[in-house]
Amino acid sequence: MKQPLQRFPALWRSAQFIVSVGLISFWSSTSEGQSASESQRPSLERTAGVAQLFVDGRPWLIRGGELGNSSASYRNYMEPYWPRLVKLKLNTVLAPVYWDLIEPEEGRFDFSLVDGLIEDARAHNLRLVLLWFGSWKNSMSCYAPPWVKRDQQRFPRCETSDGKGMEILSPFSEENLVADCRAFVELMKHLRAVDGDQHTVIMVQVENEIGMIPEARDHSPAANEMFAGAVPPALMQCVTEHKETLIPEFRDVWQTTNFERDGSWQECFGAGPAGEEIFMAWYFAQYVNRLAELGKAEYPLPMFVNAALVRPNYEPGQYPSAGPLPHLLDVWRAGAPAIDFLAPDIYFPNFVDWCEQYARSGNPLFIPEARLNGQNAANALYAFGEHDALGFSPFSIESVDNPASHPLRKCYQLVEELTPLILEHQGKATMVGVTPRVPFDEQEISTQEVVKLGDYELTVTFEAINPWAPPSDKPPERAPVGGMIFSTGPDEFIVAGTGLVITIAPATPGKSQAGIVSIQEGHFVDGRWTPGRWLNGDQSHQGRHLRIPASSWGIQKVKLYRYE
Ligand code: DGJ
Repeated sequence: MKQPLQRFPALWRSAQFIVSVGLISFWSSTSEGQSASESQRPSLERTAGVAQLFVDGRPWLIRGGELGNSSASYRNYMEPYWPRLVKLKLNTVLAPVYWDLIEPEEGRFDFSLVDGLIEDARAHNLRLVLLWFGSWKNSMSCYAPPWVKRDQQRFPRCETSDGKGMEILSPFSEENLVADCRAFVELMKHLRAVDGDQHTVIMVQVENEIGMIPEARDHSPAANEMFAGAVPPALMQCVTEHKETLIPEFRDVWQTTNFERDGSWQECFGAGPAGEEIFMAWYFAQYVNRLAELGKAEYPLPMFVNAALVRPNYEPGQYPSAGPLPHLLDVWRAGAPAIDFLAPDIYFPNFVDWCEQYARSGNPLFIPEARLNGQNAANALYAFGEHDALGFSPFSIESVDNPASHPLRKCYQLVEELTPLILEHQGKATMVGVTPRVPFDEQEISTQEVVKLGDYELTVTFEAINPWAPPSDKPPERAPVGGMIFSTGPDEFIVAGTGLVITIAPATPGKSQAGIVSIQEGHFVDGRWTPGRWLNGDQSHQGRHLRIPASSWGIQKVKLYRYE
């Protein structure tokens, strides 16, 4: 069932005020006079309970793909891959910008890679989401420039509890923050100069998969001092004001101290690693917030952060802790109000579960990374249909070597056709996404889910192997399953996806059975339904169900009637 979206949760607003008046400030700069096209710059708009990314004045669903880490570090490398991305029906590419390559010497900036990326994206009619590989990349600081890496005195690292330096820049160092901010601000300034009127770059991810590992917190002297100090009132005020709507996992930790408000981190959040993780999350968030504030002052593109997710039963310190994880959503929001949303990198198979955890308390869902496989292509339809996702973007997208037949292309073809319909149904209870909640195990070939939509109950059987496929010598291959369903009239649905068999029953008083008047496959061309074959015979088991067989991706319109 869909979770209603809260509009602009008050937590974000109050935190914004508190943090913007309460932070360390270095310098500030503001954008001056704006051109008309600049005023149409990409923005995140929240209306009628749904967040939409606007590009050139229109909502934009990201049919994305993220490049492998090194692919944007040498312009020529990408040359053969751009056409593949186009063939995959992407409209947006997520690509890194590397701090060490744009600022090889302190204060000397070189944006030639960024300019090349923008030029190549434009040449292929693609937009970009840039990923700032600054202080942190997958917990580590591997993209910090050499002059930062080599000067541990000036740019301190996190330390282990036995006092050893880690290859993780400490968020408790003002020098680290100033250096990272300066580079990020230069990047945003440059983007405004070269792209402020064209909007090839539509969003920016600030840092990449921030996290503490293998200990839950930094034990450097500066960190220890902060850890022994009081929890900042800014955090306590936010979480106190929103105590009733806090993420339950965070609330559970706070409850262990009976919701203590005044005291040290241990006094407020307990002596265990969960409290240490909250402490780190707050200071990581504050650091990132400063980058986002200063970057947006130059060029206010939407900005987000991403997280490496937690393996089942791992404790803080065992996984990259304190990043923008779902159990820390309240802490990150309070600490980084200049960040527009938190995003999951979904490499685990329980896709539904992670989407649900991120689509809480008004956090728009965007999936900047996911494992590049067929099932995730079908899962993307679930994310768009069930959670009004801003977009989806599997990782290492250039590694697809069969773009014409890849499931992602089939998925994105559907999303492209359906975009007007998706946008029309966002924020309403007239669209659902479906995909198996529990991933199939090796033995299973089908599983079921029941959804209520409009006046009907739809029983969706996910069928990974098409039992009606023509006989073959080879064992049948399991195919992706999932899709989306729109209620387009009192007795009418549009179903899109793959590997779906749907039976329908009335869910409201009246005649007790539902019959199929007609099922027709078709396409949307420029937003208009363009019908194809009439499927009232074998293809719907003579009107018993709607079927989009495994391995074929399609759209069908079903009209119903009721009888006793
Ligand atoms: C998640 C990271 O965010 C990416 O940059 C990359 O390292 C992938 N993991 C590799 O699977």
